[in-house]
Amino acid sequence: MSRSAHPAGPRHADVLPEGHYSAPPTDLNALDAKVWSRTATRTPEGVLSMGGIEVTRLAEEFGTPAYFVDEADFRARCRAWRDAFGTDADVFYAGKAFLSRAVVRWLHEEGLNLDVCSGGELATALGAGMPAERIAFHGNNKSEEEIERAVAAGVGRIVLDSFQEIVRVSHIAERLGRRQPVQIRVTVGVEAHTHEFIATAHEDQKFGIALAGGQAAEAVRRALKLDGIELIGIHSHIGSQIFDMAGFEVSARRVVQLLAEVRDEHGVELPEIDLGGGLGIAYTSDDDPREPHEIAKALNEIVTRECAAANLRTPRISVEPGRAIVGPTAFTLYEVGTIKPLEGLRTYVSVDGGMSDNIRTALYDAEYTVTLVSRRSDAEPMLVRVVGKHCESGDIVVRDAFLPADLAPGDLIAVPATGAYCRSMASNYNHALRPPVVAVDDGAARVIVRRETEEDLLRLDVG
Ligand code: LLP
Repeated sequence: MSRSAHPAGPRHADVLPEGHYSAPPTDLNALDAKVWSRTATRTPEGVLSMGGIEVTRLAEEFGTPAYFVDEADFRARCRAWRDAFGTDADVFYAGKAFLSRAVVRWLHEEGLNLDVCSGGELATALGAGMPAERIAFHGNNKSEEEIERAVAAGVGRIVLDSFQEIVRVSHIAERLGRRQPVQIRVTVGVEAHTHEFIATAHEDQKFGIALAGGQAAEAVRRALKLDGIELIGIHSHIGSQIFDMAGFEVSARRVVQLLAEVRDEHGVELPEIDLGGGLGIAYTSDDDPREPHEIAKALNEIVTRECAAANLRTPRISVEPGRAIVGPTAFTLYEVGTIKPLEGLRTYVSVDGGMSDNIRTALYDAEYTVTLVSRRSDAEPMLVRVVGKHCESGDIVVRDAFLPADLAPGDLIAVPATGAYCRSMASNYNHALRPPVVAVDDGAARVIVRRETEEDLLRLDVG
């Protein structure tokens, strides 16, 4: 990401401090389509509207802070992924990014499958009517009880993550009189980061079974001997917020290599490979994500080529995008509270939420943008740090951004691209009440996850 420490253009202070900011935008009222959902637009008065509803109305009806999700955009992204991969592949939405019963229904209706990684996510999926055979169950430490529930429900696949789990799942399935389809998750020796991949230190992590040292081959050997499980494929997930397809290429190549070894040793051609999720999205204008059809084309080509070279039938491919589907579909709406200009530094703008509704900035140094959305302003840009209301100085929502200098308490500001890993990682720190998720579509808005209340908090505190 190219960042300028000394941006040109209008300035709030004479000397700008060190920071992660680009030059101030020429038009603070512009909406960059890359980071906003499809139906987001501004009215002539400068008010943001999504799904045909203005945010001033949304704030009045649902309060702030709140997440607003663009249902049409969510569905369109599901379709784009499904169409890109076609009928010879499967798209599993990674529920950890954000899951609710409405989301499960949208996925079901749009023909996507679902990856869950806990009993809670499984219950949500099944409760909202996702057919069990379209669910994949993940996790490095699934409990016996979770495995039992997944097997009994008839989930389409359990992704095995350790030698112990191979045996554990087989025993449970046998006890339940089932033969459970499974994949083995391998670590392929690629560690993918935001803009790069590094082929080091990959075995030193809690997920999967290493290809290196023949461990994955040994896992396959053991799995093929057990009666309670049916090994249907190999799974690899290389990381998150990845833009560079090179990491996927190495991953696919190594997984196919394992399939060839399995064929040579056991005479079995495993029918499926799953290349995981991790495709990056635009959080700021500097990010350039790939479209689903480009990703599908690249992955299909790699797998087909590698399989032809190894004289293998091309397996059925699956992928597990979470962020790339839900991330860009939502924004968080906040009301501006205290504004504190620090002369020569920057202006701190406090909002009515913070690290309890978006921990990603504090946890990963994630970058976001922010825009005034309740009115138009032609005031000059001022350098701001948007912070929350929590008792912690690391409670930062947007580290460095420009907002108009006439910003005032009561204004509404919005942070786009907060659909993934914001509500799902939200907390009650300082007894904050987790914000609602409101789906907006075609002039109608409805709560899909309601705002927490103090009663909700107190109900858990049994005194
Ligand atoms: N499949 C598996 C096995 C995964 O572990 C994950 C994410 C995904 C799919 C979906 O990845 P996505 O397409 O959403 O990047 N909390 C972090 C992200 C953690 C991702 C964990 N696994 C964040 O906020 O960036």
